[in-house]
Amino acid sequence: MEYQKSILCIGAGYVGGPTMAVIADRCPQYRVHVVDINEERIRAWNSDRLPIYEPGLDEVVARARGRNLFFSGEIAEGIRKADIVFVSVNTPTKTFGRGAGRAADLQYWEKTARQILENTSSDKIIVEKSTLPVRTAAAMERILHATPKGPHFEVVSNPEFLAEGTAIQDLENPDRVLVGSRETPKGVAARKAIVEIYENWVPRERILESNIWSSELSKLTANAFLAQRISSINSISALCEKTRAVVDEVAYAIGMDSRIGPKFLKASVGFGGSCFKKDILNLVYICENYGLDEAARYWESVVRLNEWQERRFVQNILENLFNTVAGKRIALFGFAFKANTGDTRESPAIEIARGLLEERADLVITDPKALQNARMDLAGLEGNVTFETDPYRAADGAHAIALLTEWDEYRELDYECIYDSMANPAFLFDGRNVLDHEKLYEIGFNVFAIGKAPLKHFK
Ligand code: UDX
Ligand code: ADP
Repeated sequence: MEYQKSILCIGAGYVGGPTMAVIADRCPQYRVHVVDINEERIRAWNSDRLPIYEPGLDEVVARARGRNLFFSGEIAEGIRKADIVFVSVNTPTKTFGRGAGRAADLQYWEKTARQILENTSSDKIIVEKSTLPVRTAAAMERILHATPKGPHFEVVSNPEFLAEGTAIQDLENPDRVLVGSRETPKGVAARKAIVEIYENWVPRERILESNIWSSELSKLTANAFLAQRISSINSISALCEKTRAVVDEVAYAIGMDSRIGPKFLKASVGFGGSCFKKDILNLVYICENYGLDEAARYWESVVRLNEWQERRFVQNILENLFNTVAGKRIALFGFAFKANTGDTRESPAIEIARGLLEERADLVITDPKALQNARMDLAGLEGNVTFETDPYRAADGAHAIALLTEWDEYRELDYECIYDSMANPAFLFDGRNVLDHEKLYEIGFNVFAIGKAPLKHFK
């Protein structure tokens, strides 16, 4: 079959896989090829067990795979055949050298740029899909145009705003799509070619065009603003616990102000996920690089407050369990960084587990999707950890339950039965404020919720 466009995506991860699956599904006239160096990942994309769990993804892949959506490890050949190359490789935080712990590690990006250069004889549009520091495109252009008489590469920025757990919904019905390019005739033409892809299913008024630097910076800024709202409400949650105000009531009251809005105001044990911390620290590093120390400190405080919220949660467990958890069985309900995903990257559960293990607690971890990742995250830590698929068994004999992920199933458990199986006095720490606290208190639990006065059966 003749395809109208040939699209390649380098990197079959959380962003590349679902994004390309939706493009292929919505645009049967394009050939969409996704490649990765990780052969196991590619095998999984070609199997019935996809490498990531995302509601709706199986159906989208089933419709397009083999028709116009292909997964393979053939990177060089893929590059040769493509008109448009999306780059969606990982950009973790640098762990070494200058900017360690903050700057983005661009080695995978740079390798990809070199691979593109080596395997290309015709002009191409290169799309930045991974989150990148502002002005990465300039570095890309320098590498790609290292051979003066070689083909022309136009670098376009098209950041992905999808959230895990709702990736397919976010891709099919996005708030906006952003495409940034150079303001030159070739730049604008490349931008239009990318806009054209999305026009197949996204209303035109939701597709925004900008200069390339604005597009790069908008992605970091969007994540920084979202995380900042969580740190803001979490800082208020600490004050609520001292003053008998209830954080969910405060959040509701301020969220009704249309200038503030209700979303992303849910107090929690802290934000996790692969983006927020990484992107903010990256923003901090960029601000510092330009000598903007005040701006850097401002954004850095969003991450510091999040770390404090995690530590505060552990302290709260420790203090209320009579200042010692050594040898006590504590059940962690949930390990994923949020519900509906098996992803545990930067999950607050990791730091909380670490903190409790340092205090020599016996941990039992349960999660409907994230146990395999939890095992890897905690491998090598000293202490007693068991993993249990059944939350009833996890709670059996425990002194305390700490709910860390807001999975629906945790709302529906039979807490009377759980209470009966636990050690006495039984404690419940709701790190997501999703349970019925009054009812749990009536059953007999001592209940500690984020941003709410505790409900205790003793003074
Ligand atoms: C985020 C952005 O939402 C998305 O646009 C971007 O492309 C990638 O980063 P994601 O990391 O998948 O997406 O998760 P998100 O739903 O934003 O949640 C991040 C963290 O914040 C989770 O740990 C979540 O539990 C926490 N959170 C979110 C809160 O604690 N309170 C809230 O009100 C919202
Ligand atoms: P994201 O959340 O940004 O999608 P992931 O880590 O889930 O990040 O996915 C990035 C993918 O990119 C990984 O599957 C990794 O193997 C792949 N990758 C990294 N470098 C290259 C490369 N040079 N060529 C092809 N794939 C790569």
